Amino acid sequence: MSTCLVTGVAGFIGSHLAECLIAEGHQVVGVDCFTDYYPRALKEQNLENLRNQAQFRFVEADLLEMDLGGLLRGAPPIEFVFHLAAQAGVRASWGRQFEVYTRNNVLVTQRLLEAAKGLPLRKFVFSSSSSVYGDAEQYPTAETLRPQPVSPYGVTKLAAEHLAHLYWKNFAVPTLSLRYFTVYGPRQRPDMAFHRFIRAIVQGETITIYGDGEQSRDFTYVRDAVEANLLAMRSEATGEVFNVGGGSRVTVNQVLGQLEEITGRSARVEHTETQKGDVRHTAADTSQARKVLGYAPRVSLREGLQRMVAWMETMQA
Ligand code: NAD
Ligand code: UGA
Repeated sequence: MSTCLVTGVAGFIGSHLAECLIAEGHQVVGVDCFTDYYPRALKEQNLENLRNQAQFRFVEADLLEMDLGGLLRGAPPIEFVFHLAAQAGVRASWGRQFEVYTRNNVLVTQRLLEAAKGLPLRKFVFSSSSSVYGDAEQYPTAETLRPQPVSPYGVTKLAAEHLAHLYWKNFAVPTLSLRYFTVYGPRQRPDMAFHRFIRAIVQGETITIYGDGEQSRDFTYVRDAVEANLLAMRSEATGEVFNVGGGSRVTVNQVLGQLEEITGRSARVEHTETQKGDVRHTAADTSQARKVLGYAPRVSLREGLQRMVAWMETMQA
């Protein structure tokens, strides 16, 4: 049994990770400040299964404003850090909003790494993103390919990843980064495609597709992304970066077709222009994660979509 810190615990992926850590018998300290990117009510729902767990302690605080040293050295001290808190969302990262992205993605990560210096942490797992690659020169994309983000968000995630590496190299903070590829499943953020698509189909509203819908993603079910964290926790690896993908590349149009089959309803669709910051395709080469961590995605897109539709139906009820 270990003591773990999950930052961004009220978020989509963080709440699932905290639940799985507790199911494995660990103690979890979760931090979140309920940023206003999407409604607090949804994040409170994400915390529902955690709040009543004796192994869970929730700290409502902004990571940039709190005593991070005190948090990490607490009683009992933190052994594993899972750093998920961030300003996520690719397309909203232009213009004035960039300040929020640099604050919550770069500055917060640097402060947490500073606070981790010299502490006997066993692992610091940073949640990075496929957005660091931009429009990759090769698919599937391996970690060795030169990252070249096409969104300001991707720039901040890459900067934070580099910081994690720097603190490993210079101060032996045992960092490791996981580059998730478009994660979906129950509790997915309301700005993301599947959440929007399913809600629109169920409510008979119009879906907006950016561009022709032939863009593709290596969509990853949330339990698989969580599993990568659990594997990273157990592995000896530090100072490395791993792709965490879902196992297949699918176009947005193909996803819509599957959602129509699963729900038995047809989607009303309109197309608008492609969005600045969106990459055209992503595809993860996960051979390194498989080799070093033992990672293999387990949930097929069909199965994952079925679970997500079932969850959204309970949300509408
Ligand atoms: P999310 O927005 O649901 O969760 C992030 C949480 O962090 C939010 O609850 C927010 O309130 C909190 N937070 C932000 N800044 C904070 C601060 N300064 N102090 C305390 N809490 C703060 O996002 P998510 O989709 O669950 O993403 C989790 C992580 O995974 C992020 O780092 C994101 O960049 C990364 N990621 C997500 C995806 C995806 O498809 N969802 C893909 C790749 C990478
Ligand atoms: C997702 C997450 O939102 C990011 O936080 C994460 O870092 C990134 O994955 C990643 O893999 O690194 P994105 O791939 O844009 O970003 O995820 P979605 O919002 O689910 O969009 C998927 C596709 O659907 C995109 O091509 C987007 O243009 C399209 N889309 C999205 C639409 O056509 N319409 C919409 O209403 C929303």
